[in-house]
Amino acid sequence: MSERFYETSSEAQTLELGVQLGRLLEQPALILLQGDLGAGKSVFARGIARGLGVAPEIPITSPTFTLMNHYRARFDLYHFDLYRLSDPDELIELGFDDFAHGNGVALVEWPERLGDDSTPGLWIELQHLGNEQRRITFTAKSAAAKKLLSALK
Ligand SMILES: Nc1ncnc2c1ncn2[C@@H]1O[C@H](COP(=O)(O)OP(=O)(O)O)[C@@H](O)[C@H]1O
Ligand SMILES: [Mg+2]
Repeated sequence: MSERFYETSSEAQTLELGVQLGRLLEQPALILLQGDLGAGKSVFARGIARGLGVAPEIPITSPTFTLMNHYRARFDLYHFDLYRLSDPDELIELGFDDFAHGNGVALVEWPERLGDDSTPGLWIELQHLGNEQRRITFTAKSAAAKKLLSALK
């Protein structure tokens, strides 16, 4: 199965879906999170981080200005937010390829900035349906991502 659809009606439900996914992750993994501002990408990313085992006392904030945050959990977790990426050369300075295609788990908000929508990994799109209503579409674009999807309830 290479596609899955969910609907959530609260931030807590989106967080919980992220936790479920985070618990199932094995390294290496690349997760690409699409959606407009406020769709819930960072909420979902926080869920994944908690599910991977980032301790509850460690705040998980959006790396909007730093472009990347690194956490230690069951695996190394690299959380990118490429919204403010203005020049692809910045990706090189960040060492993006080493983190995204190395060991550990990489989460990427605004993967559109990479300019390649066939990047192998688990693509997740969050869409704003209403006030607190979100549609969440998972698309597996790698064998590992397909395996992950079939393990997810
Ligand atoms: N079902 C939902 N799932 C996720 N966030 C929701 C939901 N309903 C309301 N929200 C709110 O939407 C906002 C999502 O913010 P955030 O995750 O930072 O978005 P993004 O990273 O996509 O820009 C938060 O203020 C959150 O409380
Ligand atoms: Mg965000």
